[in-house]
Amino acid sequence: MKTMHETALEAIGLIPAERRFRPQDAAAITEHRDLLLSIEPDLIKGFYDTLYAHPPTAQVLGIDERPSREETLSGWWRRTVNGPLDEDYFAWMAMVGLVHVVRNVTNPMMLPMVEFVSSTATAKIHASAMPPDAAADLVDAVRRLCATVASIITYGYDQAVVSALYSVAGMPEGLLRRLRDQEVESELAKSRTELGLAAR
Ligand code: HEM
Repeated sequence: MKTMHETALEAIGLIPAERRFRPQDAAAITEHRDLLLSIEPDLIKGFYDTLYAHPPTAQVLGIDERPSREETLSGWWRRTVNGPLDEDYFAWMAMVGLVHVVRNVTNPMMLPMVEFVSSTATAKIHASAMPPDAAADLVDAVRRLCATVASIITYGYDQAVVSALYSVAGMPEGLLRRLRDQEVESELAKSRTELGLAAR
């Protein structure tokens, strides 16, 4: 299995260059740090009210876990806004993918919550007294950051699952990948039939 730094850099390298998180995005976040830090109470409450109101996510979290989970998310938000948003930070996000695998936090649970973080922050930015150009730059920075975090967590998650399967199967990766592709090709053909789409 690759290191978390390698996994994070690989994920970032796969993001189209035009949509990557850039140094000017980190600068915009630092410049408006106080505004972004001020959303923490709404962010934490909204995040866990949402997850605890939904049985599948509430079950993942457990009834007694809310205080420690809130602390984790507060710590994440402060570390994110205060920076530095460097390789160590993104390697940590790759590790979060692994943490989520072992806690059964699936990507359909995780991705809409990244969107929740992004939209909570952007609503606060739009409601602020910032000049429109600066607000637009900051919104773009937050969106790029959230997209990068989501990409790395999901990539780390997928890589961990694949790597665990390779290791359990004890087969060379190349062979397993070919077998996987054959299986998925056959599932794809069935799916096309299920959806009434022409075979290709
Ligand atoms: C914006 C999306 C999310 C982010 C950024 C995020 C971030 C994190 C971080 C930073 C950790 C701690 C990793 C460490 O030990 O250093 C963590 C752990 C965890 N997260 Fe997430 N998470 C997200 C979404 C979710 C969702 C949607 C759930 C549940 C449905 C969830 C459940 C958990 C659980 C159960 C742990 C493990 C706690 C433990 O056993 O130590 N997370 N997450």
